[in-house]
Order: sequence, then structure tokens, then C-alpha cells
Amino acid sequence: MKHQLTETKLSIGGTSCRFIDLTPQGSADAYADDIANGLSAPQKFIRSKHIYDEDGSKLFEQITQDKNYYPAQAETEILTRFAPEMVACLAENTALIELGSGSAKKTRLLLQALLERQGRSLYCPVDISGDYLRENVKRLGEDYPELNILGIIADYYAGLAVLANEIHQPKLLLWMGTDIGHLDRKQAAELLREKMITALMPGDRLLLGIDLRKAAEPIHLAYGCPGDKEPLRYSFNCNALRRINRQLGGTFATENFQRHCFYNEALGRVDIYLKSLCDQSVAIGALARTFDFKAGELIHIHYAYKYDQNEIVQLGEAAGLRLERQWFDGKAWYSLNLFVVV
Ligand SMILES: C[S@@+](CC[C@H](N)C(=O)[O-])C[C@H]1O[C@@H](n2cnc3c(N)ncnc32)[C@H](O)[C@@H]1O
Repeated sequence: MKHQLTETKLSIGGTSCRFIDLTPQGSADAYADDIANGLSAPQKFIRSKHIYDEDGSKLFEQITQDKNYYPAQAETEILTRFAPEMVACLAENTALIELGSGSAKKTRLLLQALLERQGRSLYCPVDISGDYLRENVKRLGEDYPELNILGIIADYYAGLAVLANEIHQPKLLLWMGTDIGHLDRKQAAELLREKMITALMPGDRLLLGIDLRKAAEPIHLAYGCPGDKEPLRYSFNCNALRRINRQLGGTFATENFQRHCFYNEALGRVDIYLKSLCDQSVAIGALARTFDFKAGELIHIHYAYKYDQNEIVQLGEAAGLRLERQWFDGKAWYSLNLFVVV
């Protein structure tokens, strides 16, 4: 697929802010194809990245404020305590690249520590949620005049490929929000090895947020298991359907779906679905098709894999990374892991 590279320069205070929009030409068609494929599969699915337009990003940000959503609180706690220690592990003049930066609220803790050490820094957030990225980058630029910001509106891999050519200094790749957990363990290692580490050089680092295996109860509370219509998480997941209505002329009635969500302790995995509450047909105008759902039928939205210590080390080894340091929250429910590219 061809990428349309548009660059915008902004000057905010003393900050240099550039955006590169790598949204592919024909991205609306690609989205439509992806939805058609997912809803035609024997196990229907919608890829979780399709939740994230501006509405989806704002809803996720609200979830991070919920007292039961410990991954966000744990990342904040770890960065508040240890950001200077993390930064001390890095090479001089390190640039920070963040995958799926969202609101970048927690990132500020790391940027602050980086600026205290280096005086100036290059920060490159990569996110598919373009309007949300622009908004948050502008806010960061206003608050941190010493930052040089290059915002990339792109899928992770397209963004990283461009950055590999643009940045000629040591790099720290930051991936928080426990997003790696959406992939199964084998896919996670393959993706790190084949698509992400290729953008880095030996000696560059990856700081990766990984949620840990633990008793079921906090996980149930964080993810709103077993589901039903807990309003915030329900609205977040249903944004996958509302977005189809908005962008593809869909006729999903979200009240005809509820969340179905459970933690499989043996696999260390949360499974999140939307469940059809009745037999129903949904037309999607842009696809000129109708999709049938039986009462009780599930649409898979995403997994959330949890790791133990061995699984974290194995993930690194399988990806060509050496685990250098780890930091945990006070309850040891969550980890930030610093890997070095070998
Ligand atoms: C779970 S949120 C995490 C946000 C933020 N890192 C945090 O920890 O609060 C995932 C973020 O990744 C972005 N995202 C999801 N899939 C993506 C993809 N394939 N490429 C680029 N960004 C993606 C979403 O727009 C969203 O901002």
C-alpha cells in the first residue's frame, strides 16, 4: 500500500514541532476491507486498533483514570519513582520514540527526567489516532520548550521504518499501555524481532510495559470481567461498532450487544468480546453487505496476555534483546522492562 507523506511544521514557543502523516493512500478502503474480512470470518473479529479514532482515544484515556485500571496507575507509579534511574541507563543524547503514545501523560515523567539529564531531547510519538496525536503533541510542545518533537501519524511499523532513516543518534523505543499483551506470545516475539528491532541499532534500547500474571480478582476489576454493560469499558469496546456506523454507514445498534470478557488463568490471558444479544442483521452501506449475528454469537475484540518472569526473559531472547533492568510497582502487579538490542 502506498503512503502519502505530508509534513506540517509548527512553531510553539521555542519548541520545534513537526508532524509526518503517513496515513496510506486508500486507507479508508483498507479499513473497510479489514472490517469485511473480520466480520466474514468463522470467528468474527474487529482488530482492536480500529477502536482508536479520536472518540476511542478519549474513552481509553477515561479508563486509565479509573481506580480499578491498575496497569495505568502502576506505570505512573513506576515512572514517578524510577524515571531518573531509567534515564541514567541510557546513552548520551538519546532520542525517545514512543509507540501508541495516546495522551502521553505518563511519558511526561520520562521526558522530564530525560530533559534534566540532557538539556534537550528529540521526542517522536507514533500513533494512528491522528487528531488526538496532534492535540497532545501541541500541548507537550507548549509545556516543554526544550523538546524537539516529530509526531508520526502512522501504524507502528510504517512509523518506525521512517524513523529508522530520520534519526541518527541513540534511540529508546517506548511501548507502554500493556499493548504488547494484545498479541499471543509467539506473535509478540516475532513482531519485536522482525518489525521493531529492525528500526534500532545494537545498543539502542526498548522500554516495554508488560502486565504480570497474578490472581484473577484485580484483573477482573481492571478489565470489567465478566462483562455485561459496565458503562466505560462497554462504550470503549462499542466504539469499534460506532466507528463502523460513522465511517462505513453501518447500522449497528450497540444496545443489542454486551461485553463478554474473562480471564483464563492457565493461559495468562484476558479474552474480550462483544456478544450479540439477539438474532440480528446489520447492514454496512460502504460494503454493500449485510452481516448476520445469532443470539450469543461473539465478535472478538482483543486479548490481554499476562507474563511471568520466565516468559519476559524468553520474549526478549526470542526477539534478539537482552533484558537489562526491570522496575515494578509496589504490589508487583506490573513491570517496565528495559531491553538492549544485541
Ligand atoms: C492502549 S492505548 C495506550 C496509550 C498510551 N500509550 C498509554 O499507555 O496510556 C493504545 C494506543 O496505541 C494506538 N495504537 C493502537 N494500535 C496501533 C497501531 N497499530 N499503530 C499505531 N498506533 C496504534 C492507539 O491509538 C492508542 O493511542
